[in-house]
Amino acid sequence: MLELKNIHKSFGNNKILKGVDLSVNKGDIIVILGPSGSGKTTLLRSINFLDRADEGTIDFGEIHTSLSKASKNEVYKIRKKTGFVFQNYNLFANKTALENVTEGLIVAHGYSKEEAEKKGLEALRKVGLEDRADYYPSQLSGGQQQRVGIARAIAPEPEVVLFDEPTSALDPELVGEVLNVMKDLAKSGMTMIVVTHEMSFAESVANEVIFMDQGVVVEKGSPREIFSHPKDARTVQFLRRILRDDFEYAI
Ligand SMILES: Nc1ncnc2c1ncn2[C@@H]1O[C@H](COP(=O)(O)OP(=O)(O)OP(=O)(O)O)[C@@H](O)[C@H]1O
Ligand SMILES: [Mg+2]
Repeated sequence: MLELKNIHKSFGNNKILKGVDLSVNKGDIIVILGPSGSGKTTLLRSINFLDRADEGTIDFGEIHTSLSKASKNEVYKIRKKTGFVFQNYNLFANKTALENVTEGLIVAHGYSKEEAEKKGLEALRKVGLEDRADYYPSQLSGGQQQRVGIARAIAPEPEVVLFDEPTSALDPELVGEVLNVMKDLAKSGMTMIVVTHEMSFAESVANEVIFMDQGVVVEKGSPREIFSHPKDARTVQFLRRILRDDFEYAI
């Protein structure tokens, strides 16, 4: 369904992505792990052209193009097929939950206000927030704000949703409600690429786990392969650190 090959991206003299490949089938739940600065966010942002990669190709349905040279129209078509969930929600403070969801439907997807509100309420229902449609972000908890962020991403019915550490800005007691919404979406057959360090989510929901370090994919496999039998020393070291942090947090 979605195939990316040989993605390269630099910021100034810093090479951030150094030849990353990514292959996504319909219904896949892919979790991306890796240390801070390894290029996870940059990879997600390159897929829907929030960042413009320097090199690489994308095949997405009927679109086959170069990441660096894709035309405006190709970028528009790829953006229509993807939803993005940001770490810090990125909601408009002066718009209600429903308006945050309908804005993109009206402006980017060409729905009438009436159709957009119908679709927006449907998306809010899916994240359990239909009764908060008229609330402003400041009147919502962090978990609720992120669920609005998810509703905004899924409302246009994208083919794939990209999640960039959707729970890492949340207080621990609010993480569960967001993960539960993501699990429901996964069950409904949504194709998802999720940058997260929530190991239990990765273990129970992902069909593939990718470990990145310093701009390359170090290894990938099923959750069982990566968590129980990691092959690369960098993966082993990373998992140890994450699991130790979890343990320290638990005590
Ligand atoms: N717009 C930018 N301008 C300059 N450098 C950037 C920009 N965006 C990212 N970088 C750099 O690229 C590197 C990779 O960043 P990226 O955000 O992709 O990492 P990450 O794996 O998502 O890390 P984290 O786990 O901390 O979110 C970092 O060194 C970062 O400073
Ligand atoms: Mg990041």
